[in-house]
Amino acid sequence: GPAPLIDRFGRQVTYLRMSVTDRCDFRCVYCMSEDMKFLPRSEVLSLEELYDIGAAFVRLGVNKIRLTGGEPLVRRDVLSLIERLGQLPIELVMTTNGSQLPGMAQDLVNAGMRRINISLDSLRAARFSELTRTGKLDKVLSGIEAAKSAGFKRIKLNAVVLKGRNDDEVLDLVDFARRGGLDITFIEEMPLGQISEHGRAESYCSSDELRELIGSRYSLLDSTENTGGPSRYFRMADSASRIGFISPHSHNFCGDCNRVRLTVEGMLLLCLGNEHSLDLREIVRSYPGDADQLEAALRRAMDIKPEKHEFNLDEEPQILRFMNMTGG
Ligand code: GTP
Ligand code: 5AD
Ligand code: SF4
Repeated sequence: GPAPLIDRFGRQVTYLRMSVTDRCDFRCVYCMSEDMKFLPRSEVLSLEELYDIGAAFVRLGVNKIRLTGGEPLVRRDVLSLIERLGQLPIELVMTTNGSQLPGMAQDLVNAGMRRINISLDSLRAARFSELTRTGKLDKVLSGIEAAKSAGFKRIKLNAVVLKGRNDDEVLDLVDFARRGGLDITFIEEMPLGQISEHGRAESYCSSDELRELIGSRYSLLDSTENTGGPSRYFRMADSASRIGFISPHSHNFCGDCNRVRLTVEGMLLLCLGNEHSLDLREIVRSYPGDADQLEAALRRAMDIKPEKHEFNLDEEPQILRFMNMTGG
């Protein structure tokens, strides 16, 4: 087949994170500003354009596509895209806030999705509503139940841990995951977009502290398991659940980076923590249906993939785009 996508540092791109909408029914405090403005329809890729870009990546060696948002399940008719992507020879996965899963989990499994990641930062209803501004804990808990019943092979919870806001719930979240047979990953917050509620340096909570805390209740065994994402996993002797840590600040993982991101405006972002990008919308709209043009552009993009992010919690955010443009 055609040559794979390899960047200047010898890293092969095998994982595409595709944002299918910038919209979301939540307004998480670390992700969006309170008065978020969303893109007008004309700027947004059609489902057909999203599919064509995904398929081009797969021809060039991508074996995993993760749908993100905003909240991917609020995009109208997203199921038709999922059903088509589900026919490709890839692992098709999603990161969701869970609110739409009660009505959609079964459709996702039927379309071939086997793993799903659900964000859950708190198990306390009032606090959950403060962190997500517009979210309701009950709905997400029902969504998690729906995912369990639908038959996903693995469900992973994602918790962004903020000092003084939810760091006292880490053990409760671990126990919730254990009871439900779920994996859980704890994430260090990344400084994207200008937020007002909390200082990012003050709320920083390192993965090492959390690992020590969890280790005081359960003995954590190193695991070599790898889902192809940035999480480092540990196991507990008496449980099938895995505990993961995503530590952009304390354990840089850029050396193994295998991924790029597509925003719903069609910007191919070569790194979450940099602005280097290539406009694929321009290409799919200038040369509709021309796979060669698209593939040539994906190859060109490899020359501008940066070596690593340079997040700095002590400065004003260097990346002005909010996280909802890339779904993390
Ligand atoms: P798995 O396939 O289950 O390993 O998922 P994943 O960790 O790749 O995806 P998920 O959407 O669950 O992402 C969890 C967190 O990891 C989010 O906060 C993302 O922003 C973060 N993340 C994923 N890829 C990168 C990356 O390349 N750089 C940085 N800095 N963070 C990333
Ligand atoms: N830093 C770290 N993770 C974030 N997420 C959203 N914004 C941030 C941020 N600023 C997480 C969400 C979700 C995943 C896609 O990204 O909680 O689990
Ligand atoms: Fe929505 Fe996810 Fe951003 Fe929260 S983190 S506002 S659920 S896109």
